[in-house]
Amino acid sequence: MISLIQHAPQYPNLGLGQEYELLDWLQHLTFPREAKFTDLEYAQKVYDQVVKRNLNAGVSISAHNVRTTSYSPAIFIRPQHVLTTPVSMYRVQRFLQMWFLNEAVITPRFALSCTSELMQELGQLMASEPDVHIQTHLSENRTEIQETLRSFPECTSYTEVYEKYGMLRNGTILAHCVWLTEDEMDIIKRTGAGISHCPTSNFNLMSGGARVGAMLDKGLNVGLGSDCSGGFALGVLPQLRNASMLSKMLAVQPEKPNGQTNGHVGQFTNKPLSIPTLFYLATMGGAALCKMAETVGNFLPGKEFDALHVTPGRSPNFFLDVGENRPVGQTRDERRKKLKETFERFLFVSDDRDIAHVYVRGRKVGGSKV
Ligand code: GUN
Repeated sequence: MISLIQHAPQYPNLGLGQEYELLDWLQHLTFPREAKFTDLEYAQKVYDQVVKRNLNAGVSISAHNVRTTSYSPAIFIRPQHVLTTPVSMYRVQRFLQMWFLNEAVITPRFALSCTSELMQELGQLMASEPDVHIQTHLSENRTEIQETLRSFPECTSYTEVYEKYGMLRNGTILAHCVWLTEDEMDIIKRTGAGISHCPTSNFNLMSGGARVGAMLDKGLNVGLGSDCSGGFALGVLPQLRNASMLSKMLAVQPEKPNGQTNGHVGQFTNKPLSIPTLFYLATMGGAALCKMAETVGNFLPGKEFDALHVTPGRSPNFFLDVGENRPVGQTRDERRKKLKETFERFLFVSDDRDIAHVYVRGRKVGGSKV
């Protein structure tokens, strides 16, 4: 499963800061924590745990915002695909990204942390490196949006800021996108960028509910992200569950806040996301978002073997029926139905304890039995 975006240096803050919305949360909790990562020994210890815990939760690919310019090598030598590079967040200082890593991502933290000059430099860097990944946050919180438009008065929308500086293209990962207007979705569609839906974080920081159904009806690339520690739950399953809950909430309360429209209503808008769609977001959606659809995301021949071996029944909510794990005399149809039910329960009630083994590129690299 694929989790785009998360923030490795924020993991020690998981569960804290319940009283904050985004901008206060950044200032009072997140930036002070991230500042500790100038201590590379500390950084190494945290990053080691982050990678291990994500692997055990079944995350085979993750993209991180980090805050150190030197890295714990351990985050890369593990077999998990990790996309990362330091965030750019200096409004006054010119800071051109250095990258010296295999799978670096250009990361303007968000528009508010970048000057026009920095955005311009990052845009030039991107233009000279057509294959490099880009990740940033977009349209997460209403105050953030107002402040962004004040800082970039020449632009009429937040999305336009990134478009203006050439940051939107196929492979650009845009986290949150809670308050996108129809026009902004059209820009994202036109440029080929995609959206990382982070519902746990968006609930937790009271940012709002992203209109994933409308995005899918527009044909946008959408994947899932834990956004830890904006979201307090690592791994992809909690995000899938919250994506489901949000879609159900929007289905019963389909009002369009803040100028959002549902101009193009189709199969998904204001409907509960189905299990196949949710699983798609957790796997192929993420793969497409980071331009890896040809290599991972499902089991088509020729792809890398990223897989979970699930042994149900160890976590407390995954309640096995009497005799369920020793089925006898079932017909093929009954077995198929059972398998489908087991899959649904895995998605909605299991936890790491049910993930016995995790394979990345064919190698067993994590899981509760490793
Ligand atoms: N916007 C800018 N930085 C961050 C961050 O660290 N987390 C979230 N959720 N949004 C951001």
